[in-house]
Amino acid sequence: MHMSRRTNLNRRTFLRTALSGCAAVAAPQFSLAKTTDGFLELTAAKGQVRLYGANGGQSDLWLYNGRLPGPEIRVKRGERVRVRFKNELDEPSSVHWHGIRIDNSMDGVAGMTQPPVQPGEVFDYEFLTPDAGTYWYHAHNMSWNQVPRGLSGPLIIEDDETLFSQDTDITLVLSDWRLDENGILDTASFGARHDFSHAGRLGNWLTINGTSLPDIPLKKGHWHRVRLINTSASRILDLAPERFGAKLIGLDGQTFNAPRDMPGTVQLAPAQRMDLVLRPEATGTIPFEMMTGRPFAFANFQVKDAESEGPSLRLPPVNTLPEPDLQDALEMPLLMEGGAMGGMRSLLRDRTEDELRQMMQDGLFWTFNGTSGMQDAPMFSAKRGETVVLESRNDTSFAHAMHVHGHHFRLLERNGEPLEHQDWRDTFTTDPGETVKIAFVADNPGKWLIHCHMLGHAVSGMMTWFEVS
Ligand code: C2O
Ligand code: CU
Repeated sequence: MHMSRRTNLNRRTFLRTALSGCAAVAAPQFSLAKTTDGFLELTAAKGQVRLYGANGGQSDLWLYNGRLPGPEIRVKRGERVRVRFKNELDEPSSVHWHGIRIDNSMDGVAGMTQPPVQPGEVFDYEFLTPDAGTYWYHAHNMSWNQVPRGLSGPLIIEDDETLFSQDTDITLVLSDWRLDENGILDTASFGARHDFSHAGRLGNWLTINGTSLPDIPLKKGHWHRVRLINTSASRILDLAPERFGAKLIGLDGQTFNAPRDMPGTVQLAPAQRMDLVLRPEATGTIPFEMMTGRPFAFANFQVKDAESEGPSLRLPPVNTLPEPDLQDALEMPLLMEGGAMGGMRSLLRDRTEDELRQMMQDGLFWTFNGTSGMQDAPMFSAKRGETVVLESRNDTSFAHAMHVHGHHFRLLERNGEPLEHQDWRDTFTTDPGETVKIAFVADNPGKWLIHCHMLGHAVSGMMTWFEVS
């Protein structure tokens, strides 16, 4: 695939000059200020970070509590999360708790489940967390602009029992940035129509926990749990866990019954999470590589000697989710059309050339089932407890990462072929030409979004909603 120079993650143009002075990965902050009534304080405000390491300038970002990524929020499964969100930005915002099967009023979708939180205002989020696992939170107002400026952070729901010690339970937030020649966030290109109608806003630089090329300390002979979260606006990360000796134990927060070997590359699309376990047998450096094009390291695991042998591997228990009833399901098609590289032409089936021109003038390039963007009526309504089978068909020239709010679904089939592992997910990828079938029990009442998590696609048409009553 052709990639222009500006969007290519290019080792030569960027990585080489940044290599001086590797930073240790910033340990995610567990502590948040607590108010007297027990709320964690989360404040969105402007701040600055050196994304490109010591040789780059300061980028103007929007941050939660002044950190990149936002502070790690960690609670036990079933615990009540109480967050007091304060908006100190110049524009309205809100916080979405991605992947949590949450009470609808706390889902954080500005304009649908709550009014946008105005500058200077506060909103209290309070919800229960039914599933243990790796989740994240991010801005959900003008997400295409707010998330790639820094407004996201990890949300870890701990198992009932502590299975990994603090230094062997590692959260890695992977984010792609578009930097200019000075290593500073390119803000002029935010909202570029060309990005929105193509693969989305792609960057040329990766950070892990906000740090450029960090060292990630591991202990020889100890099992580690590594939680990967892709917070990028559009970048699908091609990873190869096997190359650093890791096995997969979960996706999108839901853990498996047994660890899985993952030969070759595994995609981690925007918003997706991947939980790994690994036990390094020798001290030394193990590169953590991006596999797009020629493999290149964007971080290094540094394995140090440990005084003692680690405990044997104990896997987290799996969450209990309602099993879809495929015999008695509401079947819904989800046809994706539009976009550049030929996709716009298909839109002329249902509209005149004038209508299409108007759509593009409005910044709408994509459709779901023939309509573009949020409609007054839901795409479908399900009765509470009903199984929904969604068959998506990607008739565009680009990949998409589709997210369903408030539910996890089983990934059943690709191109009509039942999958070997019908994993639970909250975000699925679909390549051009592909059909993907998913199923879930619509057991969470309220209005829920379905959208592409390539955030420029979402705002330019790939966003709809359904209702559970
Ligand atoms: Cu993480 Cu509506 O999104
Ligand atoms: Cu998309």
